[in-house]
Amino acid sequence: NATALETLKQAIRTVPDFPEPGIQFKDITPVLGHPELLRLAIEALLEPFQEQEITKVVGIESRGFILGGMLAHHLDAGFVPVRKKGKLPYQTLAESYQLEYGTDTIEMHIDAIEPGDRVLIHDDVIATGGTAEATIRLVERAGGEVVGCAFLIELTGLQGRKRLPAHVPVHTVLQL
Ligand code: PRP
Ligand code: MG
Repeated sequence: NATALETLKQAIRTVPDFPEPGIQFKDITPVLGHPELLRLAIEALLEPFQEQEITKVVGIESRGFILGGMLAHHLDAGFVPVRKKGKLPYQTLAESYQLEYGTDTIEMHIDAIEPGDRVLIHDDVIATGGTAEATIRLVERAGGEVVGCAFLIELTGLQGRKRLPAHVPVHTVLQL
């Protein structure tokens, strides 16, 4: 409901010039640190997906791991980490995506998602959408169905949502 969302929104801390000048960092740690806010955040993220028979939640390194693990537990689903290149120990699938300057690569274990898996992708923030777009490609290459993406924060000015394929439902809790 509107009050809960306003409470959550008020708790997000904007830190100017972090990690570099000109960046307005959206800090979710005040939400994580308060049990009632944490519960609100989880409930709001899950709302469209409760009855969707999700089998795996994919969390994007590193800030997508925190709430992603909790979402998986609530949905009685497995959890899959998507990590930055070189961090996962076993064989991986990799996808690269464009940054403002250069490219970045993320990876997922080759056996993390199986055909028939119904996947919810989670990250704390969608900014340009590059990371989420690459994650969708990883899951689909592995044969998973992306049932949706759930982000706590959408930086609407960057229009990251437009970068994601039209067939994937995108749910965002707070639009900043
Ligand atoms: C931030 C954020 C998202 C991503 C969004 O992560 O947590 O994962 O950027 O950006 P995009 O939509 O433009 O791809 P960051 O790369 O800062 O790493 P971290 O989560 O490990 O802090
Ligand atoms: Mg991140």
